[in-house]
Amino acid sequence: MVLLLARRIAAAAVRTSSGPLCSWQPATASLRRSSHALSVHRNTPENNPSIPFEYTPENLERAKAIMAKYPEHYKKGAVMPLLDLGQRQLGFTSISVMNYVAKMLNMPPMRVYEVATFYTMYNRTPMGKYHLQVCTTTPCQLCNSDAIISAVMSYLGIQPGETTKDKLFTLSEVECLGACVNAPMIAINDDFYEDLTADGVVAVLKSIQNGVVPKPGPESGRDTCEPFSGRKVLLAEKPYSGPDVTRADL
Ligand code: FES
Repeated sequence: MVLLLARRIAAAAVRTSSGPLCSWQPATASLRRSSHALSVHRNTPENNPSIPFEYTPENLERAKAIMAKYPEHYKKGAVMPLLDLGQRQLGFTSISVMNYVAKMLNMPPMRVYEVATFYTMYNRTPMGKYHLQVCTTTPCQLCNSDAIISAVMSYLGIQPGETTKDKLFTLSEVECLGACVNAPMIAINDDFYEDLTADGVVAVLKSIQNGVVPKPGPESGRDTCEPFSGRKVLLAEKPYSGPDVTRADL
């Protein structure tokens, strides 16, 4: 079984080696991985329960709209979007954000802590303005994500889990973000930059440092995830004569 798996991985590496962006990387090129997320809370001057938190009036309205989607006895189902709202407002999911959401949803705080510590999208320590998430899962790794994360670390002088001194960037190494067909990729806040090269990712960072957030998407110039050799299907303007069933902008 192990031999079969190894053969499949090797075959996938060979297949990707013919693509314009992917190349086989020997296992020895991998970076040393280590977890940087502490799963327990420790009070710090910038993150402790005595620091007050409440939604802005606009976010309070958003929170009410979110909670209205849930039946009266299942309001706690809104815990994830409400934590996300708090994180977007404050910049990270502090212990005060968790306590505020627990109170709002009438939940034991421990239940909220369990959610916030389980899902990695909740950042429980102060973050830089731009959260850089470099995917290094197998498809991205086969397309040289090691070079991407090395370029980011070397250009910014930080390791995964660290924030630059100017508080502009926080770097994380993450598992698959679902853009494997455009590997290697990096998520910067809510945007994906794909088909990356080491020089390309540094160019993106430089642009952000200069106050311009580049257009997200594939850096290779291809449209979304269509083949590098051009679109192969849906070539007709309108493939059938029935009513439109897709969005007007598709
Ligand atoms: Fe990197 Fe899926 S493996 S996005």
